[in-house]
Amino acid sequence: MNNNLLDKLSPLIGEINRHLEETFKAQEGLLSEIGLYNYLGGGKRLRPLVFLLAAHSLKDTFPLPDFFFRSSIVFELIHMASLLHDDIVDHSEMRRGRKSAHLVFGITETVLSGDFILARASTLAMETGSMDFIGILTQLLEDLSIGELKQLKLRFNSAISLDDYYDIIKSKTAVLMSSAARAGALIAKGTNKELAALTQYGLDFGLGFQIKDDILDYKADPKTLGKPTFKDLAEGRITLPIILAAKNLSAKSAKELLRLAAKKQRDPEDFLAIASLIEEGQGIEEAQVIAEKHAENASLALGSLPDTVAKGLLIDLARYGAIREN
Ligand code: FPP
Ligand code: MG
Repeated sequence: MNNNLLDKLSPLIGEINRHLEETFKAQEGLLSEIGLYNYLGGGKRLRPLVFLLAAHSLKDTFPLPDFFFRSSIVFELIHMASLLHDDIVDHSEMRRGRKSAHLVFGITETVLSGDFILARASTLAMETGSMDFIGILTQLLEDLSIGELKQLKLRFNSAISLDDYYDIIKSKTAVLMSSAARAGALIAKGTNKELAALTQYGLDFGLGFQIKDDILDYKADPKTLGKPTFKDLAEGRITLPIILAAKNLSAKSAKELLRLAAKKQRDPEDFLAIASLIEEGQGIEEAQVIAEKHAENASLALGSLPDTVAKGLLIDLARYGAIREN
């Protein structure tokens, strides 16, 4: 995140972190340890930020009530729990530059603490007293699980279509962003039209963000990224750069690219061959254009809202999601 944007967001991030830290410090034993390990691993706190900025874009009171901050962490807790579980599902060893929690605390312990974090998020949602808020949360949990299962089913499957890919990234990432934006609008007592605008914003922000994530898997510096590159390939995830490159390449090269992408036991040179075929098929460049288009659509979705500081920050955040380097 550039320093200018970070400076503007840091008061909100500070409050979000305070609530997260309090939540984990209040637990006992392993729940506190695993929670704090996860919390201290860092993260951009994008989901609660989207929640708070969505609320702020409709409610121009400074500062926002403490209750809004407390509710915002629902969306960071769900994100945290899903990543604890996801690293087990994916057998991933590294997250945010450190060992994944299951390698430090054990698989059973990490699954259960992820369950606890989900339960904690549900309690906070219940405290809002809003059935609509709870409805956003329950639908989100269904979508996340469905997305992860679909992704699992299509691992190492070269027949994955563009629609399959969009289904997966929508449920695993974009719905979390759109739920955060919608819930923020809800808590600020937005109209149905405002809720719809912010939901669409979150969806496009999330799609652009995940497409950029899939690009970074091929081209980021692993140190900045905090996880190894080519991880999607290693774990069998065939993502947009490959799908697009395969469409642009000659039939023979496309077949070779998809064969290598679906290969379970790869030699080191296979990774290089895949990278060079993606380059030849312009997979990264085309995916980047699409990511930026989603960021632009996210901004356009806010067109009917008044021009507030919060709206400007939502627009900056969506752009950042599509052009970031980590
Ligand atoms: C990361 O994708 C995975 C997700 C964002 C979704 C994980 C969802 C579940 C485990 C379903 C259960 C849901 C809950 C709420 C417990 P990735 O593996 O492509 O990203 P990565 O490279 O960062 O691991
Ligand atoms: Mg994973």
